[in-house]
Amino acid sequence: MKILVLNGVNLALTGKREQGVYGSETLEEICAELKAFAEKHGHAAECRQSDLEGELCSWIHGAEGKFDGIVLNAGAFTHYSYAIRDAIASVSVPVVEVHMSNVHAREEFRKKSVLTEVCKGEILGFGKNSYKLAMESFWL
Ligand code: DQA
Repeated sequence: MKILVLNGVNLALTGKREQGVYGSETLEEICAELKAFAEKHGHAAECRQSDLEGELCSWIHGAEGKFDGIVLNAGAFTHYSYAIRDAIASVSVPVVEVHMSNVHAREEFRKKSVLTEVCKGEILGFGKNSYKLAMESFWL
């Protein structure tokens, strides 16, 4: 299987920002681990990050027919991006929403995701392992 791992706004700063919440590993380190994890299970993963909502929408459109699944951590876009929600609803490739932190145990605004309804499922609160659990959901 080919899995596309998409990270949204501010996630390039993982490992530097709010280490108590997101840990001290960089996104590059996490992505290298995710690729190795996929390969160990006989699959392939490609990781991309953007702070631009439209670019994430274009990557979701472009995944149609090229990837078997998308693992999406949209960052703060999760809570208000109807554009990303509509992009997910426009393709048949399944999307699993992930968050490293337990968004339900944080600020009120993080409890609402506008994406979950159009995603196959949601995994949150397990740090970088949230991505691995989401990837596994495609091949289990
Ligand atoms: C996050 C949670 C979001 O609320 C936040 O805006 C992020 C990261 C997470 O991985 O826990 O940037 O998606």
